Amino acid sequence: MAPTPYVQPVSKSTAVFKDDIFKGKVLFCTGGGSGICKGMTEAVMRHGANATIVGRKFDRLTAAAKELESLTGQVCLPVQADVRKPESIREAVRQTIEKFGRIDFVINGAAGNFLAPIDGLSENAFRTVIEIDLFGSYHTIKATLPYVRESKGAYINVSTTIQYHGTAYQAHVSAAKAGIDALNRVVAVEEGPRGVRSNVLAPGPISGTEGMERLTATDENGQLLVPHEPAPSGRMGTVEDCGSFTVFLFSEVASYASGGIFVLDGAHENIRNQMVPYPEAVLDAEGFKKKLAQAQEKID
Ligand code: HXC
Repeated sequence: MAPTPYVQPVSKSTAVFKDDIFKGKVLFCTGGGSGICKGMTEAVMRHGANATIVGRKFDRLTAAAKELESLTGQVCLPVQADVRKPESIREAVRQTIEKFGRIDFVINGAAGNFLAPIDGLSENAFRTVIEIDLFGSYHTIKATLPYVRESKGAYINVSTTIQYHGTAYQAHVSAAKAGIDALNRVVAVEEGPRGVRSNVLAPGPISGTEGMERLTATDENGQLLVPHEPAPSGRMGTVEDCGSFTVFLFSEVASYASGGIFVLDGAHENIRNQMVPYPEAVLDAEGFKKKLAQAQEKID
C-alpha cells in the first residue's frame, strides 16, 4: 500500500503575523479582482493595508472591492484599467495617490492564458499575452516606481513554473513569464540601493481558481481527463497559501529578500511530467473543446 502523504495544514497569515503590520500601508494590485491576486490582496488587507485593485471588468472589480472591505475592514479602491495601456495604468496610479496618498506595495498579477499549440497561435494571440503579462508588469513598475521609492516599498511579480521546462501549448505564457522573471532581477538590482525590493512569486497549480480551471482538461461531466499529479507535499496549493506568502514577502522579516524567485508549489515542479501538455487526444475530446470555448466566452 502506498504511504499516506504528509499533508501540511493550511494556516492563515493572521495566525502567524500580527494583524496591524501593514497599518497605514497601501497596496496597488493589478488583476486583483479575482483568483490568486484577489486572495493576495485580501491577505495584505487583513494586516491593515488599504488597497487599489485594477482590472478590465468594472462590475467584477467593484464586487471584489466590496467583499474585500467587508472581510478586512480596510478600504479598497476598484479602478478599471488595461495594463497594456501605459496611460491607463498611470491614471490608476493617479487615482490611488489621490485616494490614499502613497503606494508601498505593488503586485503585478494581471495575466492572460489559454491553451494553444504554437502553430495555432496567431501573432496577435502571442502579442496579446506578452502585452498583458510582460508589458503590463513593465508599465505598472514604471508608473508606480516614484511612489515605491518614496515609501521604500516592494514589488511582487506573479510568475509561474511552466517556463522552467518546455510546456506544450504554453509558448506565449512561457515567454511572457520568463520575461517577468528577468525583469524582476533587474528591478531588484537597479532599485535595491534606493531601498526598493522586488521578488517573484511563482505558484504551481492552485486549486479553485479560474486560471487553473481553464487549464484543466475535463469532459462534459466535469471529470478530469488527465489526473493531477499530487505534489510531493500531498495536496494542491490554495489561494490562501499565496496570500500568506505575500504577507511574508512584504513584511519586515523578508527585508533581505530581493531579486528572488519564490516557487510555491509543494515541490510539484520537481516531479512534474504532465500538467500541461495534454495529449492531442485530450485536446480533441469534444467535452474539453466545448469547455475551452465556454471559458473563452466568460473571460474579461
Ligand atoms: C488560440 C486564441 C485563444 C485560444 C484567444 N486567442 N484565445 N488563440 N486559442 N484559446 C487569440 C485571439 O484569436 C486573438 O488573435 C488574440 O488571441 C487576442 O484575443 P482577444 O480575445 O482579442 O483578446 P482579449 O479580449 O484582450 O483577451 C485576452 C486573452 C484572454 C488573453 C486572449 O484569454 C483574457 O483576457 N484572459 C484573461 C483571463 C485569463 O486568461 N486569466 C488566466 C490567468 S491564469 P487573432 O489573431 O484572432 O486576432 C494564468 C496562470 C498562468 O495566467 C499559469 C499557468 C500554469
